[in-house]
Amino acid sequence: MEYAIKSGSPEKQRSACLVAGVHESRKLTPAARALDNASDRFLSNLLRRGDMDGKVGQSLLLHNVPGIFADRLLLVGCGKQADLDDRKYRKIIANSVKQVKQTGATEAASFLPGLEVKGRTFHWKIQNAVHFIDQELYQFKEFKSKTIEPKKSLRKITLMLPSRRELLQCESALSRGIALAEGVKLTRDLANRPANACTPVHLADQAVELGKQFPAVDVNVLDEDEMKDLGMNSLLSVSQGSALPAKLIVFRYQGAGDDDKPVVLVGKGVTFDTGGISIKPSSAMDEMKFDMCGAASVFGAVAAVAGMGLPVNLVGLTPAVENMPSGTATKPGDIFTSMSGQTIEVLNTDAEGRLILCDALTYSEQFEPAAVIDIATLTGACVVALGKHATGLLSNHDPLAAELLKAGEIAGDRAWQLPLWEEYEKQLESPFADMANIGGREAGTITAACFLSKFTRKFHWAHLDIAGTAWVSGKNKCATGRPVPLLVQYLTRHCEK
Ligand code: BES
Ligand code: MN
Ligand code: ZN
Repeated sequence: MEYAIKSGSPEKQRSACLVAGVHESRKLTPAARALDNASDRFLSNLLRRGDMDGKVGQSLLLHNVPGIFADRLLLVGCGKQADLDDRKYRKIIANSVKQVKQTGATEAASFLPGLEVKGRTFHWKIQNAVHFIDQELYQFKEFKSKTIEPKKSLRKITLMLPSRRELLQCESALSRGIALAEGVKLTRDLANRPANACTPVHLADQAVELGKQFPAVDVNVLDEDEMKDLGMNSLLSVSQGSALPAKLIVFRYQGAGDDDKPVVLVGKGVTFDTGGISIKPSSAMDEMKFDMCGAASVFGAVAAVAGMGLPVNLVGLTPAVENMPSGTATKPGDIFTSMSGQTIEVLNTDAEGRLILCDALTYSEQFEPAAVIDIATLTGACVVALGKHATGLLSNHDPLAAELLKAGEIAGDRAWQLPLWEEYEKQLESPFADMANIGGREAGTITAACFLSKFTRKFHWAHLDIAGTAWVSGKNKCATGRPVPLLVQYLTRHCEK
């Protein structure tokens, strides 16, 4: 999709489809009012007859509106002006593109960014309009043999602004919105690919491609021998049952000065999680191709940040492995020495995410990070606790947690904090090693984070458990691209300070 911004009066736009809002009850937005004036009250007469009330979700497509230059006019319900918050704005935008797409117009000009959204600037409205529209139109068709593309399909959306003054401040919002949308799309595409296509080697190849696309992004891929030399036995214990070699992908983006400490993102990249010898039940096991969504979100965040050219230093680490049962697989009870020197008794080979993350977290020490954030589809318990609406957040540094929570609010990609108290650590005790890799039935998300916290003592760290938010199940099964919007918002704020 092509996006543009422009200012100008609605009645003068030569567009295949204009989009304007109507508030409840039948209150015209300024754009709709201008069209009403130009058309000799055509719109208010229609509304008075009861064709549309202005509730969110409603829309009305009009042809041949007199006195205006556009081929069509789509009126979109925007609810009560006073209730217009982020969520409603998102709904209204998404609803409008769904309708526009059905008209057959190849191009549209939308006045919806002119809506007043509680506490939000034009910059926010433009950046998010692009992102929401892209999210709404996303389709994953790489593996469909026949793609039936309608001859006429929507190709360009112009976001209309009330005046030239907004135009200036919105140039950067537009390009940031596009960069964010592209990052989210990359995350979703990688995650949606099946595990026979999206292997650790595939992720490594895609990382190299990303490095070519963005000269400011440096990519280095460590192979198993290099990881062995570093002592990453915990990470390697997960892939030892797989026929596919493990990779550790390292992205480096230098957007700020050399003295600026980087933010490090660490993403769980299990390209398929069978559970290993502690094998999973077969129902819905296909969804474990999504067990690399943490890694995919690091790709997406790196792409978005590089696309925006944010003045921040960013390191992305994605350990990529496949968790399989086989004659060479780890057995319950096996003990490994992690890169940190701490020993781990693997009581359940299905608790593999923490085993790859812990070595990647230790590896991140060398970057002297300002903060380390790991992102992982780590625990089914997180889905039980928070469902699909909030990402689980745990941290050893409350100010960092607060910033991430705030970023999630602004980006419409929310997280919810869970406690990381010492009391929980007892659950990880092992009679044979320094720790076990599971903590029993209670508080599974917290004990998983407790395990990781033993490898993050030297820096400020937060953990995002995206088991519930990274994809949706059911008939429209699809990766969501979360928490890329949260991460990018956090990084945007981070470099403003
Ligand atoms: N990748 C899974 C977590 C998961 C399960 C995410 C279902 C989304 C949906 C993870 O590797 C896992 O298997 N975790 C175990 C941990 C347990 C063995 C302590 C779990 O949650 O059951
Ligand atoms: Mn598992
Ligand atoms: Zn897993």
